[in-house]
Amino acid sequence: MNTPKRYTITAALPYTNGPVHIGHLAGVYVPADIYARFQRIRGNDVAYICGSDEHGVPITIKAKKEGVTPQQVVDKYHAMIKASFKEFGISFDNYSRTSAKIHHETASEFFKKLYNDGKFIEETNQQLYDAEANQFLADRFVVGTCPKCGFEESYGDQCENCGTSHNATDLINPKSAITGNTPSLKETKHWFLPLDQYESFLKEWILEGHKEDWKPNVYGQVKSWVDDGLRPRAVTRDLDWGIPVPVEGGEGKVLYVWFDAPIGYISSTKEWAAEKGIDWEPYWKDKDTKLLHFIGKDNIVFHCIIFPSMLKAEGSYVLPENVPANEFLNLEGNKISTSKNWAVWLHEYLEDFPDKQDVLRYTLTANAPESKDNDFTWKDFQARNNNELVAIFGNFINRVVVLTNKYYEGQVPSPATFTDVDEDTLALLKKYPQIISKSIERYRFREALVELMNLARMGNKYLADEEPWKVIKSDPERVQTILFVALQIASGLAILCEPFLPFTAKKLNSILHYSTLDTIATWDEIKTANSLIPAGHQIGKGELLFTKIEDLEVQQQLDKLQASKQANEAANKIVAPQKDTIEFDDFTKLDMRVGTILEATKVPKTKKLLQLKVDVGIDTRMIVSGIAESFSPEEIIGQRVTVLCNLAPRKLRGVESQGMILMTDTPDGKLAFIEPENDSVSNGEQVS
Ligand code: MF3
Ligand code: ZN
Repeated sequence: MNTPKRYTITAALPYTNGPVHIGHLAGVYVPADIYARFQRIRGNDVAYICGSDEHGVPITIKAKKEGVTPQQVVDKYHAMIKASFKEFGISFDNYSRTSAKIHHETASEFFKKLYNDGKFIEETNQQLYDAEANQFLADRFVVGTCPKCGFEESYGDQCENCGTSHNATDLINPKSAITGNTPSLKETKHWFLPLDQYESFLKEWILEGHKEDWKPNVYGQVKSWVDDGLRPRAVTRDLDWGIPVPVEGGEGKVLYVWFDAPIGYISSTKEWAAEKGIDWEPYWKDKDTKLLHFIGKDNIVFHCIIFPSMLKAEGSYVLPENVPANEFLNLEGNKISTSKNWAVWLHEYLEDFPDKQDVLRYTLTANAPESKDNDFTWKDFQARNNNELVAIFGNFINRVVVLTNKYYEGQVPSPATFTDVDEDTLALLKKYPQIISKSIERYRFREALVELMNLARMGNKYLADEEPWKVIKSDPERVQTILFVALQIASGLAILCEPFLPFTAKKLNSILHYSTLDTIATWDEIKTANSLIPAGHQIGKGELLFTKIEDLEVQQQLDKLQASKQANEAANKIVAPQKDTIEFDDFTKLDMRVGTILEATKVPKTKKLLQLKVDVGIDTRMIVSGIAESFSPEEIIGQRVTVLCNLAPRKLRGVESQGMILMTDTPDGKLAFIEPENDSVSNGEQVS
């Protein structure tokens, strides 16, 4: 056994302005959890740290929108996020929050230390200001064109398109997100961290020191920012929600959320250590501690440039050994979006699939956006469950358990003579801990999971080749050996699947009656152990590890997704205000009648116009209508419509139009007809 190492593993603190969705899970919390569980199993000393990120502009915007206080917003989502992580089996050693007293103290102390050591530049200069809202416009309060990539909806502190972090005054054509006004400039004092002074440190530490071991996407982003030249960044804001600036002249100002949030990792560690009665400092200050930040790609600049510069400035902390950032997960082909309600929310998943945590963990790992953006689809979720978890993993375990019960009343049989195939199979089993470890240690969780499944495949193949259910008639002694070998594989799976499928591991341990064993091999002992489950050991009855997911369940999820997106669109739709009042006589002047479209053709050389022949009861007339982007000519023959008949005729593209078809809009920007609800209404009936 290697000497245990100390790991401080952090997972990005989620913003507390909404629940957690599958994109967060796939990018950050599941891989970090696999890693933390893996290091624990191997006997290492792990602090897996997280908490809620409760400051920042998005939370105040949300509070305003809902007419509640920011504290109410964070209280609601903190409770929800914390509970759903727990139920999902994310094994944080501590989940804290940045509104906690210990965090306010820790962040304030950190700021004061840098302040007293002269690490900041204090500067009064012009910042964007919204006079109508009486507010400075920092971060998400301002939107404009990114100076780097030209994206038109960049925020004041970061562009979501290219990831660059900038100052709000760098935006081209800025607009207030509160009023839509073009901001003015107003003088204010702030404290800046002179990132330019950390360039050579960052070059040496990352660009030279981590070229080989950091993921190319992370290394590449850091390199491009450092190559572009770094500039001082303000670490304070003129806002009222956040941690008060704890030095003279800081009244009415707070720390920038990206200054305080990463310090949240430290305060969460402190909270945990205090609870356990141990010293927190080694987890952040001992040079042998391995500090790892699991994040999504939009957080790279903060974890690779700004936070390390802060730690370096402070002087007593270790730097991260790696920052394994992931790309983004899409959902059914579209970007996951909280504001558009295009997401699978963890708390809703847990309600709909209360005992299928591992299925989602499995799907998100198998599809993890490790080196490029990836797509989650419900069909794939179903296929992964039915074709892999049920058909391979579950099936193998089930066969072994059922046969052991059937032939030996659940007692692990004594092996007779091992054949070459048996020897090879057992030898291969011994190699798996290392195969899987290697992938996890390089943050290749997809690859690691494939290997785990390969072990289950090996088990299935072994049984299929050896056919104990046939051999039992001719050579019962041989079957003892076969099942002994198969049970070793099942035990290996129970140990090795834990980081990925913790709920399954637990079930499997209980099926195999693992807790009644005198010694249980550890991950690393699989390599050398004579057997993982000894002859004579009594196992339990079968219980299905996984169950099939039916088409109907998947369809329900797809329908739910569409419905919530549409409800959201409807809720966000700006309804046009009422027009000026008219007299009843004005209304009676309108001659509106029910009609039927008889013919339809495109008006040549136009995109929008269709030429329609419509029976309106009194006659059949030609009407030109701008509906070609919503309907093809063929699909509207026979369509019932409402026509404004006495509109003065006018020529459109050379075709005379004698009337107008009444239309309305659907949420997805298409048109819809206004038609009589009852089919028996005849053409020519008036609308009144
Ligand atoms: N709340 C941020 C996000 O969701 C992440 C904060 S990570 C920390 O993007 F380092 F600041 F804690
Ligand atoms: Zn950009």
